[in-house]
Amino acid sequence: MPTKPSLLVARAIFPETIARLSEHFEVEANIHDTEWSQAELAERLKGKDGLLANGGVKVDAALLDACPGVRIVANMAVGYNNLDIDAMTARGVQATNTPDVLTETTADFGFALLMATARRVTESEHYLRRGEWKRWRYDMFAGAEVHGSTLGILGMGRIGQGIAKRGAHGFGMNVVYHNRSQLSPALEAECKARYVGKEELLKTADHLVLVLPYSAAAHHTIGAAEIALMKPTATLINIARGGIVDDAALAEALKARTIAAAGLDVFEGEPAVHPGLLACDNVVLTPHIASATVPTRRAMAELAADNLVAFFGGKGPVTPVNTLPARAGA
Ligand code: 8YV
Repeated sequence: MPTKPSLLVARAIFPETIARLSEHFEVEANIHDTEWSQAELAERLKGKDGLLANGGVKVDAALLDACPGVRIVANMAVGYNNLDIDAMTARGVQATNTPDVLTETTADFGFALLMATARRVTESEHYLRRGEWKRWRYDMFAGAEVHGSTLGILGMGRIGQGIAKRGAHGFGMNVVYHNRSQLSPALEAECKARYVGKEELLKTADHLVLVLPYSAAAHHTIGAAEIALMKPTATLINIARGGIVDDAALAEALKARTIAAAGLDVFEGEPAVHPGLLACDNVVLTPHIASATVPTRRAMAELAADNLVAFFGGKGPVTPVNTLPARAGA
């Protein structure tokens, strides 16, 4: 019997997915979800053929050089800024991600965060839990309007489009967006969205949602200067990646009420959160859960597994991130 390829599953995932992978691979799985150092990860990955990672697992040149047998890294995330794609491509290592399966769920969450922020949901709940609610007041937790307001979207990929459709069709919002490239007229019509420059986006949005991928060039896309352009009544929602926003500058702006509020699912240096943000009551904070529904997390795990099975089955990955030159003799 030919031996099965070997696989390291770096973080705990659904037992059903592990069981399925075990039919195809010799699997070493981190079932207890132990936190491994980079050195420990390298130690365990040595001699393996593939890795199932997630967004918190860093794959860089040093790791790849320490583990030259690795042929594929399947990321259980649509974002892949944890993978050094150039280093992988240079070493002939396939990278895959999990697009599409999380689009609608993540767009739902972006909208939930927008609404919670605009309507001060968590702030008012904390007030109630502290026992401070004694009577009604005309301006008690009066927030910003959602329906009919201007929704700005920075990064108009699949998730951005999902948020645009929710805003335009569900809440009658006027949608403006900025992106590296303008959408086709057909897609713009579907999303009822109008392309604008970044400055106009910042100046006109009542609610600005960030959904762009992280790269070195996108670091601190939103800093003090950009926040200063926003309306003092505006809200800022980040479901993209930590590092897209300068969290220190945002904390300052929220404290000074330069903008009204923010909703953040991702943070610079997460799981650590900037203490200035923790000190603000006009910010809704969630622990990177935008894709976290059971069906979606299952679909993400299964798609990562599909990629591994297809790749080692010689069919090519289902959702590749990089393109590798054809292997000699393959
Ligand atoms: C993941 C995400 O939960 O898919 C992404 O890019 O940010 C989330 O869906 C996270 O990256 C952990 O893998």
